[in-house]
Amino acid sequence: MKILILDSEKKLAECAKLYVRASNGEPWNDQWTEETAFKRLLDFFNSPGYLGLYAEEGSGILGALVGNAEQFYSGSYFYLKEMFVLPEHQRKGIGTGLLNELKRILDERGIRSIQLFTSKKLFPFSFYKKHGFEIVKNMVMMNNDPHFGNGADEEPQE
Ligand SMILES: CC(C)(COP(=O)(O)OP(=O)(O)OC[C@H]1O[C@@H](n2cnc3c(N)ncnc32)[C@H](O)[C@@H]1OP(=O)(O)O)[C@@H](O)C(=O)NCCC(=O)NCCS
Repeated sequence: MKILILDSEKKLAECAKLYVRASNGEPWNDQWTEETAFKRLLDFFNSPGYLGLYAEEGSGILGALVGNAEQFYSGSYFYLKEMFVLPEHQRKGIGTGLLNELKRILDERGIRSIQLFTSKKLFPFSFYKKHGFEIVKNMVMMNNDPHFGNGADEEPQE
């Protein structure tokens, strides 16, 4: 498996198809179309500080991640916006490979902090915990839509 830089709109469009499959499946059961998924990935692609990676085996893409570096007063941090692996290829180390390569590249660029949002109830939480991510104490995500992320507040999955 090769991990490569995601730097073309053509590859991004291929990744959008994976994003639809990964996000419309478990555990999210979202309702993305190829069009909305491509627009979302393109938003990140066109952002300052963008960086994307994809995992390829043979000529097929198996997973990808995208995000962007943002300035903070203490330096830059990387905001990991999306990460996804084809459902039938999950739990084979592809996500780990992508994240490790991201950390290596960011380290070269002097960026040591990665931030992300995820559900504390679903299995990606345990994936990120395994890779050293922790809940930021005293911070909370806020939203003005009462239907956004609804559901009971439960303890995170370990
Ligand atoms: C989260 C995700 C990117 C991880 O990629 P991956 O290639 O499956 O991850 P790895 O094989 O490197 O690591 C596997 C670990 O991830 C977690 N994990 C991945 N898939 C899982 C599943 N179906 N059920 C439970 N845990 C799972 C587990 O902690 C697992 O470790 P284990 O196999 O030792 O129990 C991938 O599962 C995915 O694309 N999920 C759907 C989209 C998504 O949720 N993206 C993240 C949004 S915040």
